[in-house]
Amino acid sequence: MVTISVMNQKGGVGKSTATRNLGSFFANQGYKTLMVDIDAQANLSQISNIPDDIESTVLDAFRNKTPKIFTVANNLSIIPSSLNFAGIELEIIGAMQREMFLVKTLNKLENNFDICLIDCPPAINMITTNSLAASQWVLIPMEASFLAFNGLEMMINVISMVREGLNPNLSILGAFINKYKEHTIVSRDILEKMKEKGIDIALFDAKIRQYEDFKKAEFHKKSIFEFAKGSLAASDYNKLGVEIVEKLKSNKSI
Ligand SMILES: Nc1ncnc2c1ncn2[C@@H]1O[C@H](COP(=O)(O)OP(=O)(O)OP(=O)(O)O)[C@@H](O)[C@H]1O
Ligand SMILES: [Mg+2]
Repeated sequence: MVTISVMNQKGGVGKSTATRNLGSFFANQGYKTLMVDIDAQANLSQISNIPDDIESTVLDAFRNKTPKIFTVANNLSIIPSSLNFAGIELEIIGAMQREMFLVKTLNKLENNFDICLIDCPPAINMITTNSLAASQWVLIPMEASFLAFNGLEMMINVISMVREGLNPNLSILGAFINKYKEHTIVSRDILEKMKEKGIDIALFDAKIRQYEDFKKAEFHKKSIFEFAKGSLAASDYNKLGVEIVEKLKSNKSI
């Protein structure tokens, strides 16, 4: 199983939407895919097709219990989160190996899935550290705006720190531009800005444009592939999915 943290401490850039839609893409390609929601906002859980009154969440993983896995679609499963996950940081503050809860949980699932996507909260904290400790890759959704660079360097530093201290197998898979609008700032400008700042992250060619279909699909708790199969929105995610699979294959991750 290859594990990918979908991470950006900036809020609303499209982490949960990416996890949901890439999860669906990988599942449709035949990869047994697990999504893990580690955000107390529980957005990913809310936009996935699971019962409302779930009795087990990712909170169990942080309490040394085995969380239940829910089926979302063929080949697609989720360990959901819920609003009561919000207090977890305080709860584990004095725990032994408090960065390793997710590692322990996911190790047990190693042979059950091909790909695991972790939807991180918009923060750098002990919960995201758990995700980085358990991952081989980090995927960074970002918006094509000047402000998108705020915090990117800090995030890269944190990833390096985790690589040195906790998880030598961690690398950045790449970033992709979400909510892209033609005629505004283009990826070339973004790449230049990154170079200027000495930020060395691969940017996927595929860009996800801004479409209402994403919001509509979420409302119906469907991925873009189920909700609007032939849409431009679905075709954008398809392109990104193909690039990611290629990169994972060329690195022998899948
Ligand atoms: N390409 C897109 N086009 C239009 N709307 C989008 C697109 N991507 C995401 N959105 C919308 O933007 C909002 C934020 O997206 P999302 O919840 O995925 O971001 P996030 O990074 O997970 O946020 P948070 O940091 O709060 O967890 C959602 O309402 C989502 O439907
Ligand atoms: Mg989110």
